[in-house]
Amino acid sequence: MEDFDYNHSRTELHFGRGRREDVGDVTAAYGDEAHLVTTRSAMQESGVLDDVVESLEEADVSSSVFDDVDPNPTLKTVVGCVEASDDPEVVVALGGGSVLDTAKTAALSIAAFGGTPTKEQVWDYASGDLSVDVAAPVVAVPSTSGTGSHVDPWAVVTNEEETAKVGFGGRPLVPVEAVVDPEIAMHMPPELAARTGFDAFCHLNEAFVSTRNDPVTDALALRGVEEVGNHLSDSVEGDSHARDEMTVVDTLGGFCETTAGVIATHALAHGVGAFHPEVAHGDALAAVAAEVVDYNVENGDDETKRRYGMLAERLGAPVADRKLDAPLAGDAFRELMEDVGVATSLSELGVKEAEIESIAANAAVYMGPAIRANPTEIEKDDLVSVLEKAY
Ligand SMILES: [Fe+2]
Repeated sequence: MEDFDYNHSRTELHFGRGRREDVGDVTAAYGDEAHLVTTRSAMQESGVLDDVVESLEEADVSSSVFDDVDPNPTLKTVVGCVEASDDPEVVVALGGGSVLDTAKTAALSIAAFGGTPTKEQVWDYASGDLSVDVAAPVVAVPSTSGTGSHVDPWAVVTNEEETAKVGFGGRPLVPVEAVVDPEIAMHMPPELAARTGFDAFCHLNEAFVSTRNDPVTDALALRGVEEVGNHLSDSVEGDSHARDEMTVVDTLGGFCETTAGVIATHALAHGVGAFHPEVAHGDALAAVAAEVVDYNVENGDDETKRRYGMLAERLGAPVADRKLDAPLAGDAFRELMEDVGVATSLSELGVKEAEIESIAANAAVYMGPAIRANPTEIEKDDLVSVLEKAY
């Protein structure tokens, strides 16, 4: 066996229905002044925001609130989020991936600048010019099941002026606590359950074939992929047991992307997102996922093929020989996508054929680590041909 290091999440996890009641006590361990980041509509309408505010009040934690997070948070969103805070000791993030990423980036800004940063200062971190070595503690309360952001060190921010959607991060951005309450996830409409669940699926399957994989990540990823096969479809239908299970899948995906990273699938999806901020991350992933699998199976070495054979097997495909039956993986992905109703092509997302070159170039420039973690070499021209097949 090759040497490996496994650096797991530092997040203390609290799972269970109704556990949002514990957010106040969990937060109070970090201070009595919090900044609560959330979204205006979804969390307010469901009453979940009231429950969390009440829990904070009962624990004597005062909080400022920022509830204006957009679906693809921009530098402006982050600056606005910090501006709305009042020198907090801890940041509480209640929402989906955009909220968690905004809160994490705000927590970094609060600790690094001690006040409201400029957009340029936030971009210095997001673009990798400065490394992340401080952040205020974050308590994550995810409302969707898929981004893994409650246990990972990444945040995704869009630079609205440069058409760049980048993932960046560092260990201080890993939330210190996560309260995972499946009752909150029950409020997801079916299409959100499908898209976020597919995102989790990608974190798992991409980490499993990544050049950075390790035996511990492998075990978590395979278990997660199997649970996606067992539960994602029922979760989309609203089945409560399946929604419970998908909160675990989401968390496993977060661990796996932390330790082994993601590959060309996420790189291309970010490229799509940079040009089409209106396209949901899960749909952008779904549009390209099967074509990346086909490319990797066709061009991969024996180990890569064997790994895709194992993924196909976990999704229930009739695999007799893992290496020889690796081509079944692409079809297993397509079957899952049709089953849960996520996008299956770029054209249906409104992407223009003329944008393919730019999307590939953008992915190559801004998502270098993911391109390098792809199990087979994938150059810009290859990215273009994958996107053309996905069109
Ligand atoms: Fe993702």
